[in-house]
Amino acid sequence: MIEFKGVQKTYPDGTEAIKNFNLKVQEGEMLTLIGPSGCGKTTTMKMINRLVEPSAGEIYIDGKDLKDYNIHELRWNIGYVLQQIALFPHMTVEENIAVVPEMKKWKKQQIRDRAKELMQMVGMEPSIYMKKKPSELSGGQAQRVGVIRALAADPQILLMDEPFSALDPISREGLQKDIRKLQQQIKKTIVFVTHDIDEATALGDRICLMNAGEIIQVDTPQKLILEPRNSFVRSFIGDKKSPWQTAVDIVVAQTVSHILTQTDFEAGNFDPEQAYILTSDDGQILCAVEHGKQKDILTMSNDMNVLEAVRVFEKAKASILPVAKGDELIGTVTQQELLHYLASKTEVKNGVVTQ
Ligand SMILES: Nc1ncnc2c1ncn2[C@@H]1O[C@H](COP(=O)(O)OP(=O)(O)OP(=O)(O)O)[C@@H](O)[C@H]1O
Ligand SMILES: [Mg+2]
Repeated sequence: MIEFKGVQKTYPDGTEAIKNFNLKVQEGEMLTLIGPSGCGKTTTMKMINRLVEPSAGEIYIDGKDLKDYNIHELRWNIGYVLQQIALFPHMTVEENIAVVPEMKKWKKQQIRDRAKELMQMVGMEPSIYMKKKPSELSGGQAQRVGVIRALAADPQILLMDEPFSALDPISREGLQKDIRKLQQQIKKTIVFVTHDIDEATALGDRICLMNAGEIIQVDTPQKLILEPRNSFVRSFIGDKKSPWQTAVDIVVAQTVSHILTQTDFEAGNFDPEQAYILTSDDGQILCAVEHGKQKDILTMSNDMNVLEAVRVFEKAKASILPVAKGDELIGTVTQQELLHYLASKTEVKNGVVTQ
Protein backbone atom coordinates (compact mmCIF):
# COMPACT_ATOMS: atom_id res chain seq x y z
CA MET A 1 0.00 0.00 0.00
CA ILE A 2 3.00 2.32 0.56
CA GLU A 3 5.70 1.47 -1.94
CA PHE A 4 9.17 2.99 -2.35
CA LYS A 5 10.82 2.29 -5.70
CA GLY A 6 14.45 3.23 -6.16
CA VAL A 7 14.05 6.26 -3.90
CA GLN A 8 17.03 8.52 -3.24
CA LYS A 9 17.32 11.76 -1.35
CA THR A 10 20.26 14.09 -1.55
CA TYR A 11 19.77 17.34 0.34
CA PRO A 12 20.88 20.58 -1.35
CA ASP A 13 24.08 20.64 0.72
CA GLY A 14 25.07 17.31 -0.82
CA THR A 15 24.14 15.03 2.10
CA GLU A 16 23.05 11.68 0.70
CA ALA A 17 20.36 10.91 3.27
CA ILE A 18 18.70 8.04 1.35
CA LYS A 19 20.38 5.83 -1.25
CA ASN A 20 18.29 3.47 -3.35
CA PHE A 21 15.45 2.66 -1.00
CA ASN A 22 12.98 -0.10 -1.98
CA LEU A 23 10.25 -1.14 0.40
CA LYS A 24 6.59 -2.14 0.45
CA VAL A 25 4.53 -1.52 3.56
CA GLN A 26 1.39 -3.65 3.50
CA GLU A 27 -2.07 -2.36 4.26
CA GLY A 28 -2.83 -2.64 7.99
CA GLU A 29 0.80 -3.41 8.79
CA MET A 30 2.78 -1.83 11.58
CA LEU A 31 6.33 -1.40 10.34
CA THR A 32 9.00 -0.12 12.71
CA LEU A 33 11.93 1.81 11.25
CA ILE A 34 15.07 1.59 13.30
CA GLY A 35 18.71 2.51 12.85
CA PRO A 36 21.45 4.76 14.19
CA SER A 37 21.03 8.51 14.39
CA GLY A 38 21.31 10.18 10.99
CA CYS A 39 20.59 6.98 8.99
CA GLY A 40 17.61 8.61 7.26
CA LYS A 41 14.52 7.54 9.23
CA THR A 42 12.92 10.97 9.50
CA THR A 43 13.77 11.71 5.88
CA THR A 44 11.97 8.49 4.88
CA MET A 45 8.89 9.46 6.88
CA LYS A 46 8.81 12.99 5.53
CA MET A 47 8.93 11.71 1.99
CA ILE A 48 5.70 9.76 2.60
CA ASN A 49 3.73 12.93 3.30
CA ARG A 50 5.80 15.03 0.93
CA LEU A 51 7.38 17.30 3.51
CA VAL A 52 10.54 16.20 1.68
CA GLU A 53 10.65 15.39 -2.04
CA PRO A 54 12.80 12.48 -3.25
CA SER A 55 15.68 13.36 -5.57
CA ALA A 56 15.05 10.20 -7.59
CA GLY A 57 12.65 7.28 -7.67
CA GLU A 58 8.94 7.08 -6.91
CA ILE A 59 6.70 6.53 -3.92
CA TYR A 60 3.23 5.08 -4.40
CA ILE A 61 0.26 4.94 -2.08
CA ASP A 62 -2.38 2.45 -3.18
CA GLY A 63 -0.60 2.18 -6.52
CA LYS A 64 -0.84 5.91 -7.25
CA ASP A 65 2.31 8.02 -7.50
CA LEU A 66 2.48 10.55 -4.67
CA LYS A 67 3.08 13.30 -7.21
CA ASP A 68 -0.39 12.66 -8.64
CA TYR A 69 -2.15 13.29 -5.33
CA ASN A 70 -3.54 16.64 -4.28
CA ILE A 71 -1.11 17.53 -1.51
CA HIS A 72 -3.80 18.59 0.99
CA GLU A 73 -5.83 15.45 0.52
CA LEU A 74 -2.67 13.42 0.82
CA ARG A 75 -1.76 15.03 4.15
CA TRP A 76 -5.28 14.76 5.56
CA ASN A 77 -5.08 11.08 4.86
CA ILE A 78 -1.80 10.68 6.74
CA GLY A 79 -1.62 11.26 10.48
CA TYR A 80 1.83 12.43 11.61
CA VAL A 81 3.09 12.29 15.19
CA LEU A 82 6.41 13.94 15.96
CA GLN A 83 8.87 13.34 18.74
CA GLN A 84 8.14 16.73 20.26
CA ILE A 85 4.37 16.91 20.14
CA ALA A 86 3.39 20.36 18.94
CA LEU A 87 -0.11 20.88 20.26
CA PHE A 88 -1.54 24.33 19.61
CA PRO A 89 -1.00 25.98 23.02
CA HIS A 90 -3.93 28.40 22.87
CA MET A 91 -6.45 25.70 21.95
CA THR A 92 -8.14 23.21 24.28
CA VAL A 93 -7.58 19.47 23.93
CA GLU A 94 -10.86 19.16 22.08
CA GLU A 95 -10.00 21.97 19.67
CA ASN A 96 -6.60 20.44 19.03
CA ILE A 97 -8.18 17.11 18.15
CA ALA A 98 -10.73 18.86 15.91
CA VAL A 99 -8.24 20.59 13.60
CA VAL A 100 -8.18 18.12 10.71
CA PRO A 101 -11.83 16.97 10.99
CA GLU A 102 -12.79 20.65 10.71
CA MET A 103 -10.68 21.07 7.60
CA LYS A 104 -12.44 18.03 6.24
CA LYS A 105 -15.74 19.80 7.06
CA TRP A 106 -17.09 17.19 9.45
CA LYS A 107 -20.21 18.16 11.41
CA LYS A 108 -19.68 19.61 14.92
CA GLN A 109 -21.42 16.76 16.70
CA GLN A 110 -19.53 14.18 14.69
CA ILE A 111 -16.22 15.81 15.66
CA ARG A 112 -17.18 15.95 19.32
CA ASP A 113 -18.23 12.29 19.35
CA ARG A 114 -15.01 11.29 17.65
CA ALA A 115 -12.88 13.28 20.11
CA LYS A 116 -14.65 11.61 23.05
CA GLU A 117 -14.33 8.17 21.56
CA LEU A 118 -10.59 8.57 20.98
CA MET A 119 -9.93 10.05 24.41
CA GLN A 120 -11.66 7.11 26.01
CA MET A 121 -9.61 4.74 23.90
CA VAL A 122 -6.40 6.10 25.45
CA GLY A 123 -7.84 6.30 28.95
CA MET A 124 -8.34 10.07 29.21
CA GLU A 125 -11.77 10.86 30.64
CA PRO A 126 -13.31 13.42 28.24
CA SER A 127 -15.28 15.30 30.92
CA ILE A 128 -11.99 16.05 32.70
CA TYR A 129 -9.63 16.68 29.80
CA MET A 130 -11.63 18.04 26.83
CA LYS A 131 -11.46 21.65 28.01
CA LYS A 132 -7.90 21.64 29.32
CA LYS A 133 -5.12 23.52 27.58
CA PRO A 134 -1.89 21.70 26.63
CA SER A 135 -0.01 23.48 29.45
CA GLU A 136 -2.31 21.75 31.93
CA LEU A 137 -1.37 18.27 30.75
CA SER A 138 1.49 16.00 31.76
CA GLY A 139 4.02 14.98 29.11
CA GLY A 140 2.39 11.56 28.68
CA GLN A 141 -1.09 13.05 28.39
CA ALA A 142 0.08 15.59 25.80
CA GLN A 143 1.67 12.75 23.85
CA ARG A 144 -1.60 10.80 23.96
CA VAL A 145 -3.46 13.84 22.65
CA GLY A 146 -0.87 14.11 19.88
CA VAL A 147 -1.50 10.51 18.90
CA ILE A 148 -5.27 10.78 18.88
CA ARG A 149 -5.15 14.13 17.10
CA ALA A 150 -3.25 12.38 14.32
CA LEU A 151 -5.96 9.73 14.25
CA ALA A 152 -8.93 12.06 14.56
CA ALA A 153 -9.95 12.36 10.94
CA ASP A 154 -9.51 8.64 10.39
CA PRO A 155 -6.40 8.74 8.21
CA GLN A 156 -5.44 5.61 6.33
CA ILE A 157 -1.80 5.92 7.30
CA LEU A 158 -0.13 6.92 10.53
CA LEU A 159 3.49 8.08 10.65
CA MET A 160 5.02 8.16 14.11
CA ASP A 161 8.53 9.53 14.51
CA GLU A 162 9.91 8.54 17.92
CA PRO A 163 6.63 9.57 19.50
CA PHE A 164 7.45 8.20 22.94
CA SER A 165 11.14 8.90 23.29
CA ALA A 166 10.72 11.89 25.59
CA LEU A 167 8.65 9.90 28.06
CA ASP A 168 9.51 8.02 31.22
CA PRO A 169 9.50 4.20 30.92
CA ILE A 170 6.09 3.77 32.59
CA SER A 171 4.22 6.26 30.40
CA ARG A 172 6.07 4.87 27.44
CA GLU A 173 4.97 1.33 28.14
CA GLY A 174 1.41 2.51 28.66
CA LEU A 175 1.41 4.31 25.33
CA GLN A 176 2.95 1.33 23.56
CA LYS A 177 0.08 -0.79 24.84
CA ASP A 178 -2.41 1.88 23.73
CA ILE A 179 -1.01 2.07 20.27
CA ARG A 180 -1.04 -1.68 19.88
CA LYS A 181 -4.64 -1.83 21.03
CA LEU A 182 -5.54 1.00 18.67
CA GLN A 183 -3.79 -0.76 15.83
CA GLN A 184 -5.80 -3.91 16.45
CA GLN A 185 -9.06 -2.02 16.64
CA ILE A 186 -8.57 0.30 13.73
CA LYS A 187 -6.15 -1.53 11.46
CA LYS A 188 -4.21 1.46 10.21
CA THR A 189 -1.03 1.19 8.26
CA ILE A 190 1.57 2.52 10.68
CA VAL A 191 5.20 3.42 10.13
CA PHE A 192 6.83 3.86 13.51
CA VAL A 193 10.36 5.20 14.04
CA THR A 194 12.24 4.28 17.16
CA HIS A 195 15.79 4.05 18.48
CA ASP A 196 14.83 1.33 20.89
CA ILE A 197 15.10 -2.25 19.67
CA ASP A 198 12.74 -3.48 22.40
CA GLU A 199 10.10 -0.99 21.29
CA ALA A 200 10.68 -1.99 17.67
CA THR A 201 10.27 -5.69 18.37
CA ALA A 202 7.30 -5.25 20.69
CA LEU A 203 5.35 -3.10 18.25
CA GLY A 204 6.37 -4.04 14.73
CA ASP A 205 4.83 -6.71 12.55
CA ARG A 206 8.09 -6.20 10.69
CA ILE A 207 11.20 -4.23 11.47
CA CYS A 208 13.13 -2.29 8.85
CA LEU A 209 16.70 -1.82 10.04
CA MET A 210 18.52 1.02 8.26
CA ASN A 211 22.08 2.25 8.19
CA ALA A 212 23.57 5.20 6.30
CA GLY A 213 20.56 5.73 4.02
CA GLU A 214 20.10 2.07 3.15
CA ILE A 215 17.94 -0.82 4.28
CA ILE A 216 20.06 -3.52 5.86
CA GLN A 217 17.28 -6.00 6.70
CA VAL A 218 13.48 -6.01 6.73
CA ASP A 219 11.97 -8.93 8.61
CA THR A 220 9.70 -10.01 11.41
CA PRO A 221 11.21 -9.40 14.86
CA GLN A 222 11.87 -13.11 15.35
CA LYS A 223 13.68 -13.49 12.04
CA LEU A 224 15.75 -10.40 12.55
CA ILE A 225 16.98 -11.72 15.84
CA LEU A 226 17.31 -15.39 14.94
CA GLU A 227 18.67 -14.84 11.42
CA PRO A 228 20.55 -11.54 11.35
CA ARG A 229 21.83 -10.90 7.84
CA ASN A 230 25.22 -9.54 8.84
CA SER A 231 27.37 -8.32 11.70
CA PHE A 232 25.74 -4.88 11.68
CA VAL A 233 22.34 -6.42 12.44
CA ARG A 234 23.88 -8.68 15.04
CA SER A 235 25.63 -5.85 16.83
CA PHE A 236 22.54 -3.63 16.65
CA ILE A 237 20.41 -6.34 18.19
CA GLY A 238 23.25 -7.36 20.47
CA ASP A 239 22.67 -4.20 22.47
CA LYS A 240 19.68 -5.97 23.94
CA LYS A 241 19.82 -6.27 27.66
CA SER A 242 19.76 -9.41 29.78
CA PRO A 243 18.16 -12.47 28.16
CA TRP A 244 15.53 -12.30 30.91
CA GLN A 245 14.40 -9.00 29.45
CA THR A 246 14.11 -10.27 25.90
CA ALA A 247 10.55 -10.25 24.59
CA VAL A 248 9.13 -13.74 24.59
CA ASP A 249 8.16 -13.69 20.91
CA ILE A 250 11.86 -13.73 20.12
CA VAL A 251 12.26 -17.12 21.75
CA VAL A 252 9.13 -18.53 20.20
CA ALA A 253 10.89 -21.27 18.33
CA GLN A 254 7.80 -23.02 17.06
CA THR A 255 5.29 -21.07 15.11
CA VAL A 256 3.32 -23.83 13.39
CA SER A 257 4.23 -27.37 14.35
CA HIS A 258 2.94 -27.10 17.93
CA ILE A 259 -0.45 -25.81 16.85
CA LEU A 260 -3.25 -28.32 16.41
CA THR A 261 -6.69 -27.62 15.03
CA GLN A 262 -9.83 -29.12 16.54
CA THR A 263 -10.48 -31.14 13.38
CA ASP A 264 -7.02 -32.70 13.45
CA PHE A 265 -7.34 -33.34 17.17
CA GLU A 266 -10.67 -35.13 16.78
CA ALA A 267 -9.32 -37.12 13.85
CA GLY A 268 -6.29 -38.15 15.93
CA ASN A 269 -3.93 -36.46 13.48
CA PHE A 270 -1.16 -35.67 15.93
CA ASP A 271 1.79 -37.13 17.77
CA PRO A 272 0.62 -38.13 21.27
CA GLU A 273 4.16 -37.67 22.63
CA GLN A 274 4.15 -34.00 21.66
CA ALA A 275 2.56 -31.02 23.39
CA TYR A 276 0.27 -28.77 21.37
CA ILE A 277 -1.88 -25.72 21.58
CA LEU A 278 -5.35 -26.61 20.39
CA THR A 279 -7.25 -24.05 18.33
CA SER A 280 -10.67 -23.98 16.76
CA ASP A 281 -10.60 -24.33 12.99
CA ASP A 282 -10.85 -20.55 12.66
CA GLY A 283 -7.77 -20.01 14.84
CA GLN A 284 -9.26 -19.27 18.29
CA ILE A 285 -6.98 -20.47 21.10
CA LEU A 286 -8.72 -23.22 23.13
CA CYS A 287 -6.37 -25.13 25.42
CA ALA A 288 -3.18 -27.18 25.54
CA VAL A 289 -2.99 -30.86 24.63
CA GLU A 290 -0.35 -32.94 26.39
CA HIS A 291 -0.16 -36.71 26.01
CA GLY A 292 -3.53 -36.44 24.32
CA LYS A 293 -5.11 -34.76 27.37
CA GLN A 294 -6.55 -31.26 27.35
CA LYS A 295 -5.16 -28.74 29.84
CA ASP A 296 -6.16 -25.21 30.75
CA ILE A 297 -3.76 -22.51 29.69
CA LEU A 298 -2.86 -18.89 30.14
CA THR A 299 -2.02 -16.87 27.06
CA MET A 300 1.22 -14.94 26.90
CA SER A 301 1.34 -11.64 25.16
CA ASN A 302 4.13 -11.36 22.58
CA ASP A 303 5.83 -8.45 24.30
CA MET A 304 6.08 -10.13 27.70
CA ASN A 305 9.70 -10.61 28.63
CA VAL A 306 11.25 -13.95 29.48
CA LEU A 307 11.04 -13.29 33.21
CA GLU A 308 7.29 -12.64 32.94
CA ALA A 309 6.95 -15.71 30.75
CA VAL A 310 8.60 -17.86 33.43
CA ARG A 311 6.14 -16.47 36.00
CA VAL A 312 3.23 -17.33 33.73
CA PHE A 313 4.53 -20.89 33.46
CA GLU A 314 4.68 -21.03 37.25
CA LYS A 315 0.96 -20.34 37.41
CA ALA A 316 -0.08 -22.39 34.41
CA LYS A 317 -0.64 -26.13 34.50
CA ALA A 318 0.57 -26.78 30.97
CA SER A 319 4.16 -27.06 29.78
CA ILE A 320 3.30 -25.36 26.50
CA LEU A 321 1.61 -21.98 26.22
CA PRO A 322 0.34 -19.89 23.33
CA VAL A 323 1.85 -16.51 22.49
CA ALA A 324 -0.53 -13.97 21.03
CA LYS A 325 -0.16 -10.52 19.53
CA GLY A 326 -3.50 -9.00 20.47
CA ASP A 327 -6.03 -11.67 19.59
CA GLU A 328 -3.84 -13.33 17.03
CA LEU A 329 -1.97 -16.53 17.87
CA ILE A 330 1.59 -16.04 16.64
CA GLY A 331 3.30 -19.08 18.10
CA THR A 332 3.89 -21.31 21.07
CA VAL A 333 6.56 -21.57 23.71
CA THR A 334 7.39 -24.57 25.87
CA GLN A 335 9.15 -24.65 29.20
CA GLN A 336 11.90 -26.64 27.51
CA GLU A 337 12.45 -23.96 24.86
CA LEU A 338 12.69 -21.26 27.50
CA LEU A 339 15.27 -23.30 29.39
CA HIS A 340 17.30 -23.88 26.25
CA TYR A 341 17.15 -20.21 25.39
CA LEU A 342 18.35 -19.13 28.83
CA ALA A 343 21.06 -21.78 28.90
CA SER A 344 22.30 -20.69 25.47
CA LYS A 345 22.52 -17.07 26.63
CA THR A 346 24.32 -17.82 29.84
CA GLU A 347 28.02 -18.40 30.14
CA VAL A 348 29.89 -19.75 33.09
CA LYS A 349 33.36 -18.25 33.47
CA ASN A 350 35.59 -19.46 36.30
CA GLY A 351 32.58 -20.79 38.10
CA VAL A 352 30.74 -17.43 37.84
CA VAL A 353 27.53 -17.18 35.84
CA THR A 354 27.55 -14.28 33.42
CA GLN A 355 25.00 -13.25 30.83
N1 LIG B 1 17.28 19.66 5.66
C1 LIG B 1 18.43 18.99 5.61
N2 LIG B 1 19.50 19.45 4.94
C2 LIG B 1 20.65 18.79 4.89
N3 LIG B 1 20.86 17.60 5.48
C3 LIG B 1 19.84 17.08 6.18
C4 LIG B 1 18.57 17.73 6.30
N4 LIG B 1 17.77 16.96 7.04
C5 LIG B 1 18.48 15.89 7.39
N5 LIG B 1 19.73 15.95 6.87
C6 LIG B 1 20.80 14.94 6.98
O1 LIG B 1 20.34 13.73 6.40
C7 LIG B 1 20.75 12.61 7.15
C8 LIG B 1 19.52 11.82 7.60
O2 LIG B 1 18.77 12.61 8.51
P1 LIG B 1 17.44 12.10 9.21
O3 LIG B 1 16.87 13.23 9.98
O4 LIG B 1 16.58 11.48 8.17
O5 LIG B 1 18.05 10.97 10.16
P2 LIG B 1 17.33 10.11 11.32
O6 LIG B 1 17.60 8.69 10.99
O7 LIG B 1 15.92 10.51 11.48
O8 LIG B 1 18.19 10.50 12.61
P3 LIG B 1 17.74 10.63 14.15
O9 LIG B 1 17.67 9.22 14.67
O10 LIG B 1 18.88 11.38 14.78
O11 LIG B 1 16.43 11.34 14.21
C9 LIG B 1 21.58 13.14 8.28
O12 LIG B 1 22.92 13.08 7.91
C10 LIG B 1 21.13 14.59 8.41
O13 LIG B 1 22.17 15.38 8.91
MG1 LIG C 1 14.82 11.45 13.06
